[in-house]
Amino acid sequence: MTASRPAVYPEADLPSAVTVYEVGPRDGLQAESEVVPTHRKIHFIRELRAAGLGIVEATSFVSPRWVPQLADARDVLCGLDELDRHPVLVPNHRGLELAIDAGATSIAVFVSATQEFARRNLNATRELALQRATEVVEEAVARSMRVRGYVSMCFGDPWEGRVDVTAVAEVSRALVDAGCAQVSLGDTIGVGTAGHVTSLVRAHERVGVGIDRLALHFHDTYGQALANVYAGLRAGITCFDSSAGGIGGCPFAGSATGNLATEDLLWMLEGLGIETGVDLDAVVRAGRSMTDLLGRPSSRVGTALGSVAS
Ligand code: HMG
Ligand code: MG
Repeated sequence: MTASRPAVYPEADLPSAVTVYEVGPRDGLQAESEVVPTHRKIHFIRELRAAGLGIVEATSFVSPRWVPQLADARDVLCGLDELDRHPVLVPNHRGLELAIDAGATSIAVFVSATQEFARRNLNATRELALQRATEVVEEAVARSMRVRGYVSMCFGDPWEGRVDVTAVAEVSRALVDAGCAQVSLGDTIGVGTAGHVTSLVRAHERVGVGIDRLALHFHDTYGQALANVYAGLRAGITCFDSSAGGIGGCPFAGSATGNLATEDLLWMLEGLGIETGVDLDAVVRAGRSMTDLLGRPSSRVGTALGSVAS
């Protein structure tokens, strides 16, 4: 027998509510080689918002030569309302200008904890990328925009191997000092495990970046994403990134596979009695319509609930 909802067994010492930060339309689609029509992207984003997701990252104002899938960033943004609910990725000053011109009020900058990924993803050294990002953050904050910072390769790097937790925390500290309201710690290639999550959060607290400033961003390459969310919850984190349908990856790190699926995350949170304000069935429908279009299987929960319905 397959259930349509988990039984609810709350646990002590976990947050009572969390924010699910949806990245599917951006992180999910950016690595897809077949270009998704702009109107389908807009529809996907609207469906996700209607499902109750408070934040749906919409697109990236990056070089269209680097990420052709998101070359329609301006048109996507122009098709949306409530742009404070739709942050966009910005890699440099040019991206910030283009985003502002398209009406963006909320942006995310991204840097790497490691050298090689900074070069492959941003064509810069780690230090130069961080310097550029902090300049963009300062300018955006001066214009009253909300800014999130992403740090990639926080748990391991395919070219450099292990990544020191304190080194990651210092990068986050620099982003917070520049004015980022939140820093999302990316396990870009999905190699992290639960104890590592706890250790990374503690390293942040040691450099003065508290749990209220942190989000966790897991890719599910090694099947660790939900265990890592659970470790994050135990450490007091209340914001988790995920992607409807589990779509996603990074075009500049071949070993980055799908993001943690929003449906799988919601199932676990619902079972723990943790409030999200999100309608799981509506996310399943949105995720399936996009994975059907892409010709991919849906998330585990999306697939299981689909078989309950049919
Ligand atoms: P570059 O080639 O060094 O750039 O790339 P450049 O400054 O020399 O400019 C080259 C050309 O690009 C110029 O045009 C610029 O105008 C143009 P040309 O004169 O040749 O016609 N250009 C731009 N066009 C549009 N928007 C812009 C822009 N900037 C320059 N913003 C650059 C440097 C940063 C542009 C490039 O490396 C880039 O776009 N990188 C983005 C890569 C990316 O999007 N990666 C995926 C997102 S990060 C991620 O997924 C990780 C995350 O999910 C967390 C995790 O999982 O870890 C966030
Ligand atoms: Mg990612």
